[in-house]
This record gives sequence, C-alpha cells and structure tokens, in this order.
Amino acid sequence: MISSSQDGFPMPEHDNEKGFPDGKVLLRDAHAEDTPRILEIYNDAVLNTTATFELNPQTLEQRMKWFSNHGGRFPLVVAELEHEIVGYCSLSSFRGSSGYASTVESSVYVHKDFRQRDIASALMVEILNRARQLKYHAIVACIAGGNDSSVRLHERFGFKFSGRLEEVGLKFGEWQDDVFYVLLI
Ligand SMILES: CC(C)(COP(=O)(O)OP(=O)(O)OC[C@H]1O[C@@H](n2cnc3c(N)ncnc32)[C@H](O)[C@@H]1OP(=O)(O)O)[C@@H](O)C(=O)NCCC(=O)NCCS
Repeated sequence: MISSSQDGFPMPEHDNEKGFPDGKVLLRDAHAEDTPRILEIYNDAVLNTTATFELNPQTLEQRMKWFSNHGGRFPLVVAELEHEIVGYCSLSSFRGSSGYASTVESSVYVHKDFRQRDIASALMVEILNRARQLKYHAIVACIAGGNDSSVRLHERFGFKFSGRLEEVGLKFGEWQDDVFYVLLI
C-alpha cells in the first residue's frame, strides 16, 4: 500500500530486487536551488518523449519563472532519494478565469533512471493530500495520447478519462493527441 509521511516513503521490497538503493524517498516542497535538477528531468522529457509538447529544451531562467509561479495554493513537491531529486509533481493554475479557481492542473515527472519504482505514485499520494488540504474540487491531467505509463498512473489514483483532443500537437514529425483525465475530490 502506498503512503507518505514526513519520515519518507518506504520503498516496496521489489525495488531492491531491481537494484534500487535501499533508501527512503523523502517528499518535500521544492526549493529554488532544486530548479536545475528539475530542469534536467524536464528537458530529458522534452528531448526524448511526447510527455510534453514543448519542442525545445527550456533555459534555467524559464524554469525559475515557472518555479516562482508555485508555492502556496500551487504546491511543487520533489521526491528525494539519498539527497538526489528523482522526480517532482506540481499543481498549477487551470486556465485563467476565476470560475476555474477550484480546479488545478497536475504534472508529474520522474528521472528516466528511476521510473517504474513507485516514485510517481508516492508523489501522487502527496500531491493529492495537498489538493485535499487546499480544498480543490477537480484536478485535470492533460496526457499525450500514447503515454500509457502516465494513463496507468492516473487511473491508479482514480482519474477518469474525460476526453480526447485529436491531433492538436505536432512533435517528432507526427500529429499528437491530448487526452484529459480528471479527478473530482
Ligand atoms: C509517467 C511517469 C511519471 C511514471 O512514473 P513512475 O515513477 O515510473 O510511475 P510508478 O512507478 O509510480 O508507476 C505508476 C503506474 O504506472 C505504470 N507504469 C509506469 N511506467 C510504465 C511503463 N513504462 N509502461 C507501462 N506502465 C508503466 C506502473 O506499472 C504503475 O501502474 P500499476 O499500478 O497499474 O502497476 C514517468 O514514466 C515519467 O516521468 N515519464 C515522462 C514524463 C511523463 O510522461 N509525465 C507525465 C506527463 S502527463
């Protein structure tokens, strides 16, 4: 069973079988000094995946601006393993109009070397707790069509398929769909 606590998230037994360090993942609010590592994780996804439809790696300045839009009602949580950030998860503003104030958009990224070890799931537990504390009503995840690992992750936490926008993105020379998953809390 996945849980999180201030003492860190105990890694399931099978992770050690995969050669995973016998440590605990600590979940905490991001600090500005974490931004370069967050940028490294994000830019790997920019260059190698359709997880984001961003085509060009971001600069540190761009990520610092993104960082400054978080905190308070828009939490940004990192997963730290043996003093190294291995993933992050955020809640961001969903569209601009004030009528959307009870809705946020979620985002989760795990470093390529640490995937399929429940890190994203641990981050989701934490970010959903934050969303409940902040009394949000709906969380929207916008997922690239074909991003099966993200779909599985979100379904695992009760997000429901809420629609597909066909061929709204163009990346790696191919049209890309977006699928929306929504969790009402
Ligand atoms: C999607 C992502 C965050 C998942 O992180 P993770 O730490 O590997 O996920 P977890 O280990 O917690 O696994 C969560 C679920 O996803 C499934 N999953 C993870 N990676 C998978 C893969 N490559 N193929 C199939 N299923 C996968 C797991 O099996 C698990 O499902 P289950 O409970 O039904 O077994 C990670 O692959 C990633 O960072 N990808 C690039 C960025 C991205 O796509 N972000 C999401 C943007 S919407």
